[in-house]
Amino acid sequence: MLTKIIAHRGSKGIRPENTLPAFEKAIEEGADGIETDVHMSKDGHLIIMHDETVDRTTSGTGRIYDKTLMELKQLDAGSYFGYEYLGTRIPTLNEVVQLLIKKKFTGLFNLELKTDKIQYPGIEEKVSAYMNQQKVSFQIVYSSFHPQSLVKMHALNPSIEYASLFKVQTKFARKFYRSRIVKDWHPDIRWVRAHRFFLPHVQLRPWTVNSSEDMRYCFKRHFDGIITDYPGRAGIIRQAI
Ligand code: G3P
Ligand code: CA
Repeated sequence: MLTKIIAHRGSKGIRPENTLPAFEKAIEEGADGIETDVHMSKDGHLIIMHDETVDRTTSGTGRIYDKTLMELKQLDAGSYFGYEYLGTRIPTLNEVVQLLIKKKFTGLFNLELKTDKIQYPGIEEKVSAYMNQQKVSFQIVYSSFHPQSLVKMHALNPSIEYASLFKVQTKFARKFYRSRIVKDWHPDIRWVRAHRFFLPHVQLRPWTVNSSEDMRYCFKRHFDGIITDYPGRAGIIRQAI
């Protein structure tokens, strides 16, 4: 089985993360999957960004949840990465999904609900209502560091695949896995390497697998996938194994 290469926040290593250019690049580089993060704006729009605040990657400051979509759209989300990306905007979930549909993407779409630091009221219902309306040819995998979010999502969509995200596996995480809501583990690669842990029934997709050594480690063990900032480089390494 060929390990899937999943682009972390798009091709984050070479494009401004979680922007349309980063997702376009991931597709161009032949990524088997795309990972991204969703939050909610003050006026209830589903917003694609990693952090809870806009400070690190945009021209603005403050929390996503304290801004309207119109306010978020005025920010520049590209120039932090390089002047050539000046004018790149924060995308909505709809814009990302429509891009994947337009590009005829048929891989894995891993949507992480960023609900571990802020509890956005109703985000699970909104994500699931929106995604269920779309006619997509890609496979959806929902993940979160916040198990309660996955429980809610699973109650709404029991047939979709769920992944448990963790840095360190706790007793609770193991119990949660046994609940059978989650089929996949998306652990920190450092945890995987420290524990050399591998359960045959769990689809393992560690993050963030960026070094050649970590990539080879995962490819040789035939993990289901890796989540990487460099899908292009990962493809070359996978081919050479
Ligand atoms: O989904 C894997 C990875 O994205 C989780 O960590 O902080 O990059 O969202 P983070
Ligand atoms: Ca993420």
